[in-house]
Amino acid sequence: MEKILHISIAVFAVLGASLIVGHNAMPSENLMPGEVDVWGSEEEGFDGGGGDDGEWCEHSMWRSQGISGRVPVSVDSFGAVGDGVTNDTQAFIDAWGKACSTKNAVFLVPEGGRYLVKAVKFNGPCADNLIIQISGTIIAPAEPKDWDPKLPRLWLTFSKLKGVKIQGGGIIDGSGSKWWASSCKVNKTNALTIDKSSALWIQDLTFQNAQQMHFTISHSDSIRVYDVQVTSPGNSPNTDGIHITASTDIVLQNCTIGTGDDCVSIVSGSSNIKMKNIVCGPGHGISIGSLGQGNSMGTVIGVVLDTATLTGTTNGLRIKTWQGGSGVVRSVRYDNVKMYNVSNPIIIDQFYCDSPKTCQNQTSAVKISQVMYRNIVGTSKTPQAIKFACSNTVPCSNIILNNVNLQLENGNTPDTFCNCATGSDYGFVQPSVDCLHSESNSRCQAAQNDDEKETEDLAKQEEERGYSAHTEL
Ligand SMILES: *[C@@H]1O[C@H](CO)[C@@H](O)[C@H](O)[C@H]1NC(C)=O
Ligand SMILES: *[C@@H]1O[C@H](CO)[C@@H](O)[C@H](O)[C@H]1NC(C)=O
Ligand SMILES: *[C@@H]1O[C@H](CO)[C@@H](O)[C@H](O)[C@H]1NC(C)=O
Ligand SMILES: *[C@@H]1O[C@H](CO)[C@@H](O)[C@H](O)[C@H]1NC(C)=O
Ligand SMILES: *[C@@H]1O[C@H](CO)[C@@H](O)[C@H](O)[C@H]1NC(C)=O
Repeated sequence: MEKILHISIAVFAVLGASLIVGHNAMPSENLMPGEVDVWGSEEEGFDGGGGDDGEWCEHSMWRSQGISGRVPVSVDSFGAVGDGVTNDTQAFIDAWGKACSTKNAVFLVPEGGRYLVKAVKFNGPCADNLIIQISGTIIAPAEPKDWDPKLPRLWLTFSKLKGVKIQGGGIIDGSGSKWWASSCKVNKTNALTIDKSSALWIQDLTFQNAQQMHFTISHSDSIRVYDVQVTSPGNSPNTDGIHITASTDIVLQNCTIGTGDDCVSIVSGSSNIKMKNIVCGPGHGISIGSLGQGNSMGTVIGVVLDTATLTGTTNGLRIKTWQGGSGVVRSVRYDNVKMYNVSNPIIIDQFYCDSPKTCQNQTSAVKISQVMYRNIVGTSKTPQAIKFACSNTVPCSNIILNNVNLQLENGNTPDTFCNCATGSDYGFVQPSVDCLHSESNSRCQAAQNDDEKETEDLAKQEEERGYSAHTEL
């Protein structure tokens, strides 16, 4: 036991130092791939190979691009009316056909119009340098029964695009209120989906009142999302703001999200996800998961949230997994987060069960490790501000807290709950997280073994990178 403590203290010193170095070295407000170290830089897959960093750095300064000198392809010139009543779907399909096959085209949805569009799939690949300029409002039919039963789950889908910019200051409105009222048994529609695409820049758009999820990124890589707003009522069911699934190298920056479900949800098969300057509330917080439902495998590796404010949300920083799943959540860092009046500010829940039936405990679970919370302040609406509810058989390990100050509204100190979670803290941490290294973990022997092994591994990696892993404190 003494040895374990010894090694962990040494490694925290080293990790702390390398993270601080990483932070100071960050040169600009903009987030670039490879720039932020989640957990030292030893984590495979997080730096995204680094091959095209130069290109991305240049483009990360990108602002909505001017469209003069390009080939405008307006939906209006294909017969769209934009009065909010006429079915403009065919005009959108025809304009897309033209824009997608033309070099340097601008697919234009003009400002001022309200275009009623049914479910459409905008497929690529397209000719080079396409810009999708949404300056008007695209609205969905309000009646769930008007939906094509063959495309029940998708409204606007952009698929197989590469190197495309989507911008324009317009609004994507899912007209969701009738969907919200309908039973959760019906298959609902997601508003806008980016699927099987790479190297897209999405900037300056507003999503509102989605039927279900507002903006989904699936099976894609190298996607930059800047200056996006999401607004839906806090009581609209399942209206996640930005949902990331099976995607890698994604940056969300300057996004303001208020909705009825997770502001951001990151689910299986996702890695290297960076979020910076995120405002969330109302909503269910910023979530990794759920993962592992129905004994499935779920993996999320490499997530950074840097600079966020959450207000009045039902969760803050949440990782949720089902009993019986497999896979891992690893290498997650939450940094510089303010939370006000949040119900579960810091929560890892390996017993997530979004089902009317109780979920039985099982021996397998998604393994959660290497999660760091740094510079987290604010108020908890419930007495339990920190909750690490981890599985007895697959405990959480290497949970690290540094400079955390959570209080109750009345200024009192809230509580921490731990079940089978191990890790450490340094700097000021309130409420105390002593339960991460207390005897209460003795029934979860595996946790200590894991921590010891991982800590040794990390120490070894640090040593290989030239740091001294033997600093005595
Ligand atoms: C709207 O237009 C699309 C494309 O022409 C068509 O498939 C759909 O049935 C139309 N819907 C209604 C309600 O007219
Ligand atoms: C929902 O979708 C699933 C799979 O696509 C299908 O099997 C089921 O019948 C649908 N349910 C309803 C109510 O449409
Ligand atoms: C994000 O917002 C800040 C402050 O408004 C601005 O300085 C910065 O350039 C924005 N970054 C991006 C990528 O839009
Ligand atoms: C906290 O949020 C609840 C709603 O969840 C609200 O009624 C209450 O006024 C909020 N308190 C503060 C101090 O903002
Ligand atoms: C599952 O295990 C946890 C932790 O030991 C315990 O709190 C919970 O009551 C158990 N749930 C069931 C349904 O047995």
